[in-house]
Amino acid sequence: MIFNMKRGLAKEKILQLLNTSKKPLSGEFIAKSIGISRTAVWKNIQNLKKAGFNIITTAKGYLLKDNDELSPEDFEDFKIKTICLKETSSTMDVAKIEMENSAEKVLVIAEKQTQGRGRLGREWISQEGGAWFSLGIRPKIALKECFIFTYIAGLAVVKAILEVTGLPTFLKWPNDVIYKKSGQEKKLAGILLEVKGEVDMVNYIIIGIGVNVNNSISNFEPTAISIKEILKYPISKKRLIQKILIKIFKLMDLPSIEILKMWKRNSITLGRSVKIIQPNREIIGLALDISEDGALIVQTPDMFLYKIYSGDCIHAKII
Ligand code: BTN
Repeated sequence: MIFNMKRGLAKEKILQLLNTSKKPLSGEFIAKSIGISRTAVWKNIQNLKKAGFNIITTAKGYLLKDNDELSPEDFEDFKIKTICLKETSSTMDVAKIEMENSAEKVLVIAEKQTQGRGRLGREWISQEGGAWFSLGIRPKIALKECFIFTYIAGLAVVKAILEVTGLPTFLKWPNDVIYKKSGQEKKLAGILLEVKGEVDMVNYIIIGIGVNVNNSISNFEPTAISIKEILKYPISKKRLIQKILIKIFKLMDLPSIEILKMWKRNSITLGRSVKIIQPNREIIGLALDISEDGALIVQTPDMFLYKIYSGDCIHAKII
């Protein structure tokens, strides 16, 4: 028997074993399967529970559950009105109603969305297991400063995923969180910003965040992936959302210039050949930088510089 198996490795093996079983697995079975003692199994299970994995101890052994049910109490440290729903059309709609009814801040989380929406009016498939949530806030800023919240949210997601799972992810302009798998770029999360306000003063902003966590990606989304599909076991959605919120609030205290610097360090768009698709034009060129006002700067082959504020970005290898 191997008793000196590295701690992290044993945990991962336990999680993968539990993930493949619908029935509880006894400590003895796990111990034999991965070659560690029963005490080591017990200790690892306790640590995994502390780390937020939803492992239930039954008379027949341990069972790993996908869905940790979320409740407002899980988020009370943030001192925000929190609404946790089993199902809704879109958390954006619920957050909007709350903000229109003068909530100062609101957090809306849903297990499932029936009309989840993405950027540019696209559908966002939101089956159970994913982290689908919206955060409504009232920052005292002008309309043209709102862009920074897309960058803050993207960064917060990348940092939180790294801390909770150890997985490195990257930011694709303007707001996709990408996991690189065998040279392919797969979308792990997306961010949607909805703003109400006047030019000089924002009324409210709703930051919508969708992370593919424990959901299975359908065949209709070949360019997406979930954390569970990468790790081969489910993680705690609660912990991930808490971490994302902590990161968002920390980043909000920083000057925009610092946020942009960090965003650029984590970006896989800059330095790449890109195709930008806008309703009335397409721009092909080299993604050079992000300007202080949040635009992607693209240099075309004829050396023109374009500032791009919105659109779809496709990474190309050759242009
Ligand atoms: C995108 O990449 O196009 C943005 C996707 C944003 C999805 C989230 S899920 C929570 C919130 N509710 C929605 O309907 N959309 C956002």
